[in-house]
Amino acid sequence: MLEQLDQIESQALTDLKTVQDEDNLQRWKVAHLGRNSPLMKAFDGLGSLSKEERPAVGRRANEVKRTLESALESRSGELRQAAILRALESERLDVTLPGRAPLHGRLHPATQTLREIYRVFGEMGFQVYRSREVETDEYNFQLLNFPPNHPARDMQDSFYVDSGAPRGDNPILLRTHTSPGQIHAMREYVAMNPDNPPPVRIILPGMCFRYEQITARSEMQFNQVEGLAVGPNITLGDLKGTLSDFARRMFGQQVRSRFRASHFPFTEPSAEMDIECFVCGGQGCPVCKRTGWLEILGCGMVHPLVLSNGGYDPERYSGFAFGMGPERITMLRHRIEDIRYFWSNDLRFLEQF
Ligand code: DAH
Repeated sequence: MLEQLDQIESQALTDLKTVQDEDNLQRWKVAHLGRNSPLMKAFDGLGSLSKEERPAVGRRANEVKRTLESALESRSGELRQAAILRALESERLDVTLPGRAPLHGRLHPATQTLREIYRVFGEMGFQVYRSREVETDEYNFQLLNFPPNHPARDMQDSFYVDSGAPRGDNPILLRTHTSPGQIHAMREYVAMNPDNPPPVRIILPGMCFRYEQITARSEMQFNQVEGLAVGPNITLGDLKGTLSDFARRMFGQQVRSRFRASHFPFTEPSAEMDIECFVCGGQGCPVCKRTGWLEILGCGMVHPLVLSNGGYDPERYSGFAFGMGPERITMLRHRIEDIRYFWSNDLRFLEQF
């Protein structure tokens, strides 16, 4: 009986050496340790042995079982190890190959200009006020002194939001300029302290939308940066000083600026500001159309009607406002000839900045 166990053991161990994969390992396990294996049969036969023989054979049978189990364990480990080595071999990596440099993102040229404008006005004590892009006719036009049918509306053909309901006289639209934010901001400030509303010094950046033919010079969406200062005793001198200082901080200390009378319904008086052409220094070149000057913004003293629509008593308060197009400034600075490049997402354009 003991010899038989020796043989079972050596046969099993010999077979195990030929096992090369997991499937055959399972088969080996069934054959040598399974229910019907010779070893299990030997256990079954213990009962028919004599009392004298039984303990030694039993001990030996258990020993063979443990030997086979641990041989199984280590063979299984070897097979796993070999599989890993094969995988490493076949999926070999050459770690000495130079890496692929990740593509560097960068700020959109319009964003770069916007941030520079924030920086300059930030230095002068202006905060950024974000206002909504979807507006009512009331805020976009009426409260800014564009009554229905006012001819100045023709400059700002609008995208209306079709809510299904009849348009009525206060339709919803995409803002055509950032100016409606003036009313929102003033009303918010007044709500803080209705008897003594705090002074306002804000810029209002953001996207505007106009239902326009898209050409090299005009897009249907573009950024504006609006500015608003309201307080006691604000004068046209403050407007000129602030905006000339802005021009120097933005375009260079030696840059001169000039103001030309203009018209906007929400300011009185109104002006347009030009700066000396930074391409030719005022000599005259194709960028400034040989005038030596570049128009960069519209501005004026806030109309009394607009102040009172915002909740500020025009007898006690005055203010100035301005509005500029950062894409236009970016075009002038980089001599970009077609505004459509800004939103067409062509990397050949964007990667130049
Ligand atoms: N809202 C004007 C536009 O889109 C720009 C503008 C001009 C804004 C003069 C102002 C301003 O605040 O004072 O054409």
